[in-house]
Amino acid sequence: MARTPIIFGNWKLNKSSIETAEFMSNLAKVLPKLENKVEVGLAPVMTCLTHAISAKNDAPIQVAAQDMHWLEHGAFTGTVSAQHIKELGCTHVLIGHSERRQLFGETDGRVSDKVRLAFDTGLTPIACVGENLTQRESGQAEDIVLRQVDAFVQRLTADEVKELVIAYEPIWAIGTGQTATPEDANQMHRAIRESIRVKFEDAADDVRIQYGGSVKPANAKALLAQAHIDGALVGGASLKVEDFMGILSAC
Ligand code: 13P
Repeated sequence: MARTPIIFGNWKLNKSSIETAEFMSNLAKVLPKLENKVEVGLAPVMTCLTHAISAKNDAPIQVAAQDMHWLEHGAFTGTVSAQHIKELGCTHVLIGHSERRQLFGETDGRVSDKVRLAFDTGLTPIACVGENLTQRESGQAEDIVLRQVDAFVQRLTADEVKELVIAYEPIWAIGTGQTATPEDANQMHRAIRESIRVKFEDAADDVRIQYGGSVKPANAKALLAQAHIDGALVGGASLKVEDFMGILSAC
């Protein structure tokens, strides 16, 4: 089953609007080297999304928001809706990143509402899951991750599952320089796919599962060579064009 690799950068709270625009036009210049073999995207800071979209021009770079509200509108000071993101020209949205779950109290239920609303609005969700170190060390990693996945997958149709992107990001590997071994990551990715297959026999082979957590040019190739690792969600190493290109070239 050939799944097009999908690599996104998550810039978190980094880069100004000027830096965002500079990066986009520089990446657009070197991207043709990849000959469209990989789907590429970036998730800049919310207020820099329009700068990113105009600076990339018509280069094949997708732009994602890093979050959105779980409802369409209402009395929710300080947030934005799926429709706002869509109107800017974003194609994707990150949902349920572990920093949102840990620092902003996002539950599986909220994550599931957001994934549902993203599809209803015509955005592709990149739904993030992952266990923390305590959960891994106590042997609960797979149960935790599969529960997180089930919370949103159970509300989707088979066609939506085919479009869905899941990012498996073990929390202990994020920003620590410590990655899961390619074999351990692949095992979790396989478990995610098989859990989806229980309800979605055919669509399970189409869902793309990214790995995230200290992905660098030096380890990308080994990770991406695994059968069930279909791409990467990259934090720190997506902030420099050369590093990001190094990862993209590993596909
Ligand atoms: P790092 O690549 O910096 O570990 O971040 C991973 C991440 O959180 C991407 O969403």
